[in-house]
Amino acid sequence: MDGKTVAQTRVLMARSMQPTDANGYGNVHGGAIMRFVDEAAGAVAIRHVRGRAVTASIEHMDFKAPVHIGDLVTVTAYMTYVGKTSMEVECQVAAENFVTGEVRAVSTCTLTFVAIDSSGHPVPAPPLILESAEERARWDAAVRRREQRHTLPPPPLA
Ligand SMILES: CC(C)(COP(=O)(O)OP(=O)(O)OC[C@H]1O[C@@H](n2cnc3c(N)ncnc32)[C@H](O)[C@@H]1OP(=O)(O)O)[C@@H](O)C(=O)NCCC(=O)NCCS
Repeated sequence: MDGKTVAQTRVLMARSMQPTDANGYGNVHGGAIMRFVDEAAGAVAIRHVRGRAVTASIEHMDFKAPVHIGDLVTVTAYMTYVGKTSMEVECQVAAENFVTGEVRAVSTCTLTFVAIDSSGHPVPAPPLILESAEERARWDAAVRRREQRHTLPPPPLA
């Protein structure tokens, strides 16, 4: 299976926020941003495998600045790590006020996707080819997150 570079699957998606994305005060719902992030990150995973991939997890997500109706929200999504069947994608979210040009950093988060076959079973993903020290640093950080996830005890049964 041929590997792919981070640059080969990187995605930049942009969308202006509509009244249906927001509450009555014009603030965009966190869930609307999460959906957009899932879509952008999913595009990266599918480009990597050129097949089916499902969201296995969305990691902790902070919202550091508000997003308003009319803002142009951009999601930059790129692969950080590929395991046997799983892939971690990092997303940077920003919001631009169209009128003033002010750009705000809104959020950074990581998502894990799993490559699956037509029956929904995990299948191997192509390897990730790292080309820079920054990409290697992001890979190492993803490995640490993965180790932490795998060493956490399962929650007690209800
Ligand atoms: C994701 C899914 C395919 C994993 O299936 P599974 O049989 O539990 O898979 P495994 O335990 O063999 O793990 C497969 C890989 O996924 C990773 N993985 C599984 N669950 C994970 C999670 N919650 N977070 C991060 N990674 C996860 C494993 O570490 C493993 O990685 P590796 O192959 O790179 O070592 C399965 O749980 C599923 O179909 N979930 C629903 C996905 C979905 O529908 N998402 C849309 C939202 S509803």
